[in-house]
Amino acid sequence: MRWPTSFLASLPIIGGDSSLSRFPVWRNPTVRMFVRYASAALVATVLIVLALAPYASALVEQWSRNDVELRSRLVFNSIRHSFSELLAANDKAGIEDLFARVANDDRVLGLGFCVDPGVLRFQTKLMPSTFSCKKAARSETASFSSITDDGTHLIAASFPIAVRNAKGHLVILHDLSFATKRSAEARTFLTAALVGIVLVSTLLAALAVLAVVRRWLIGLRESLSSAAQGQNIEEMTSRLGPIGEELRLALRKMDLNRVASVDTERTEWTAETIREVMNGELANAQVIVVSNREPYIHNHEADGIKLQIPASGLVSALEPVTRACGGTWIAHGSGSADQEMADSEGRIRVPPDNPGYTLRRVWISEHEQEGYYYSLANEGLWPLCHIAFVRPTFRAADWDTYRAINERFAKAVVDEATTDSPIVLVQDYHFALLPRMVRARLPKATIITFWHIPWPNSETFSIFPWKEEIVQGLLGSSIVGFHTQFHCNNFIETADRFIESRIDREHASITLSGRETFIRPYPISIEWPPAALGAQKPVAECRSAVRERLGIPAETHLAVGIERFDYTKGILDRMLAIDALLTAHPEWKGRFVFVQAAAPTRSKLPAYAALQAEAQRLAAEINDRHGINGVAPVHLVIRHHDPAEVFELFRAADVCIVSSLHDGMNLVAKEFVASRDDEQGVLALSTFAGASRELSEALMVNPYDPHSMGVAIERALTMPAAEQRERMRLMRDLIRNRNVYRWAGQMLLDASRLRKKQHVLEIAALHQNGGKRRS
Ligand code: G6P
Repeated sequence: MRWPTSFLASLPIIGGDSSLSRFPVWRNPTVRMFVRYASAALVATVLIVLALAPYASALVEQWSRNDVELRSRLVFNSIRHSFSELLAANDKAGIEDLFARVANDDRVLGLGFCVDPGVLRFQTKLMPSTFSCKKAARSETASFSSITDDGTHLIAASFPIAVRNAKGHLVILHDLSFATKRSAEARTFLTAALVGIVLVSTLLAALAVLAVVRRWLIGLRESLSSAAQGQNIEEMTSRLGPIGEELRLALRKMDLNRVASVDTERTEWTAETIREVMNGELANAQVIVVSNREPYIHNHEADGIKLQIPASGLVSALEPVTRACGGTWIAHGSGSADQEMADSEGRIRVPPDNPGYTLRRVWISEHEQEGYYYSLANEGLWPLCHIAFVRPTFRAADWDTYRAINERFAKAVVDEATTDSPIVLVQDYHFALLPRMVRARLPKATIITFWHIPWPNSETFSIFPWKEEIVQGLLGSSIVGFHTQFHCNNFIETADRFIESRIDREHASITLSGRETFIRPYPISIEWPPAALGAQKPVAECRSAVRERLGIPAETHLAVGIERFDYTKGILDRMLAIDALLTAHPEWKGRFVFVQAAAPTRSKLPAYAALQAEAQRLAAEINDRHGINGVAPVHLVIRHHDPAEVFELFRAADVCIVSSLHDGMNLVAKEFVASRDDEQGVLALSTFAGASRELSEALMVNPYDPHSMGVAIERALTMPAAEQRERMRLMRDLIRNRNVYRWAGQMLLDASRLRKKQHVLEIAALHQNGGKRRS
């Protein structure tokens, strides 16, 4: 039989209450709960009764039968003697009289004496006419048989008797219909008793449960409202006994989820949002940033001490974030006047014009810098990770220095820490060993290491002689971040291949010696709007100012490349592309100029010196070949440019060329887009820069193919203004949303999540230990 679904749904026990909800009383959750309880118990009772009833009847019937048998034996024993005498005397009248007296008993239906071969010799008057001796079992001992007479249930008990002259069986017939009546009564009684017991116990249990639930509900309500108001939930939940403990953990988890559910996509990230995160999620947390390059360098110059902001993507990204977080930034004091400007501990408040955080300078000798910075970091790890066809070099002594400097910075972190669980933001390949060193000293610290350069595949990384140590060092972090998922995958593969660890690919984590490190992509970005944009003149003015300064005609089309003079940036390759462009399209000669602003960097290293020399030679060669009417197509400006100058150049340009051979992200591309509030200008971007994953409206170029790059530059120079605007708008929207505050915000929220999780685990461990102690 199929039950109509609407009927099933309307049963309160099943959960449907739509039809009942029109009764106000049904809207009371307590009433609903009670009715559900009671109806469930009732149904259970009916089922129990239905299941037990047949057994109860059988039992009662068996009892009754035993009873009748017993009575038959009693009757037989009481008349046996008299009957034997009367039988021996063949006294028919005496026997009939004896039988009649016995049959006076209500339940005894009749008596008879059967002789072989089944003939009824004596009987009571009311002996059923249908009875025959053949129906009753007769044997050498007493025997009992059930017979039915006209629908009535009878028991025939037959007892063997032998006297001198006669031998047979005395048969006593009992009516058993009273047993059926008795069993029906027993069933009724059983049902009534069970229903009564179940209902009373359900009522009592429901009342007890309701009292407890009511207490829990009140406690729950109070705890939730305390949690919502950010108040302490410990005391509130402790009053609720074991459920309180569960609730406390659940509330903490909810809190974690709340952090996790901050929609980083939708939140508008600004310096203010970072401050809110710091004051809310991470209130009282101390932030310590560690990087090699410092955000402010003091140098002695001819006209006194000068402040320099270094050309470093890392610095331009982190500086606004650190300003928003406050805290301490630990970095190498590399400026010639740095010691003079800092206190005896190397501390100085920065930015100098509006101090917001402390810069703690760490001193490194020339010799140490050779081994740690120039050699191991920039001749070893840098070319290894960038795969830019410059052979990496490794020396054991440099590795020792690298380790020693990592130790020095780790010690500085511990010195600067004012709590035992600071948030330490470790930056880049200069400090791969530091996370583990800090972890050893501050086990409760939240260490987030961000690797600003690419991480190669495990095969490439395998050539690094101390690969195990470097991976283990990084795994001292709580989180290791890269710009792209691809680099995260490469790192996980490297760990998988070279160290004994447990990899959880679903959660992207690596567990080493019982400690879990999460591997996450955080695409870095720039501040929005960039501070350097504030002081900029309108684009038209920038265009004429730059052209005037460079001595190029006002209408000349301008392409720019602005970066450190680094072989990973593809500077030579873009010059070759310009050569290809001018060779294929000589009509651009005299109408197009490429300005390469290149900040000298790591010049002590042969690969960098060689690049600089080669770039100068190539520029001269191209200028010779394509220079016309006094207009040299390539302007190579080798010096440091301040952010304001960089932005002016960006705004003056028609095209910005970013042709990295391999780059973690490349913030120049993002700065160019940010600088163009006129929504004009075209970005030619290498597909090998991490930025190409986000800025898909740029013209993508392959720096290894000068011809196709030349074609792309030509396309950029002739792109209609409307198309430039469309592309620029989309890219600007993306950077506005995915700015550096979002980058840092994501990391800080993840840090907060980990800290809360750690807190929950600590509480759980405390409870567990407490429980163990109690038991
Ligand atoms: C890259 C690195 C940074 C470094 C910057 C400038 O962006 O990822 O760590 O600061 O280059 O290089 P430099 O060696 O001058 O600090």
